[in-house]
Amino acid sequence: MGIESSCDDTSAAVLKNNTILSNLIARQDIHEQYGGVVPELASRAHQQNIIPVVDEALKKAGVTKEEIDAVAFTRGPGLMGSLVVGTSFAKAFSLALNIPMLDVNHMVGHVLAHFIDDEGKDQPDFPFLCLTVSGGHTQIVLVEDHLKMKVIGSTIDDAAGEAFDKAAKLLGFPYPGGPYIDKHAKNGDPARFTFSKPSIPEYNYSFSGLKTSILYFLQKESLNDPTFIEKNLDDLCASIQRTVIEILLKKLIKASNELKIKHIAIAGGVSANSGLRSAMHETGEALGWKVFIPKFEYCTDNAAMIAITGKFMFQKGLFADQSIAATARYSMNDIHY
Ligand code: KG4
Ligand code: ZN
Repeated sequence: MGIESSCDDTSAAVLKNNTILSNLIARQDIHEQYGGVVPELASRAHQQNIIPVVDEALKKAGVTKEEIDAVAFTRGPGLMGSLVVGTSFAKAFSLALNIPMLDVNHMVGHVLAHFIDDEGKDQPDFPFLCLTVSGGHTQIVLVEDHLKMKVIGSTIDDAAGEAFDKAAKLLGFPYPGGPYIDKHAKNGDPARFTFSKPSIPEYNYSFSGLKTSILYFLQKESLNDPTFIEKNLDDLCASIQRTVIEILLKKLIKASNELKIKHIAIAGGVSANSGLRSAMHETGEALGWKVFIPKFEYCTDNAAMIAITGKFMFQKGLFADQSIAATARYSMNDIHY
């Protein structure tokens, strides 16, 4: 059983060997009206959702809770109040059923989503690079084995998902705005507008300058024409999306060239972006990469990725005990298995 509750999705999944039998996700629409996740409300919604979601995941998988061998849960990183709900649930579940418990790093989970349902599926060879892009993180991860990976580059300010969400907010979309930008970008001209791109060293990223550049541009244009955003919405979305993708790919290409690694993966909520998915395939074709993109439902937050990570930890005997505590800040570079 996998449990995920790091942000605003409550999820439970049942895994048998490497096959997902069920992966239930309860989304929290309440945050839409606030333009971002409200931690206190997220925590309360997790408390309401967790038992029904676990029940439904068991039912859908066709197994009873007595048949579950172990429970894996997201220990961090994420919102403390949200993590505590999943962690406490997992502890109680483990105690009541007398089964072991596995504490999973959420970002490791995003990377290992590539190993779900692996029968007959192409998988990346080690070492591979994984661009992990979500609402809270933007990282290039060097993956040497299932449980041996390190972050070699990350954002110094906003995450790529945050850049999408903040730009979307300026355009008047509800939270989270990434998928709205994606949808409108499909009908727009990506070369119509240009925005500033960062110049920072090594494999690191920065997205806060892009947000400022979009803000000033929209303010200036809207002063001349108050209907500017409305009239140019599709082109604005396509141009913003293209800029984010170019920023992401530049460092990924640099890492691939310098480390001579050609198996390249993406993971995390932003990997659901259709522009990024096709840019990965095009770049891959041009540079001789083998590109790996998880199935759509395993890109955004889900418990299936926590369950598969738990399985790899189970095989190594990496169990947690009842003294384990959730942790809001939890870099994968701090894990030493
Ligand atoms: O991994 P995730 O579900 O949650 C975190 O761990 O943060 O990622 C959520 C992020 C949000 O910023 C959301 O706007 C973005 O992923 N996202 C997208 C798309 N789908 C989700 N961004 C751009 N295009 C999409 N299609
Ligand atoms: Zn995530």
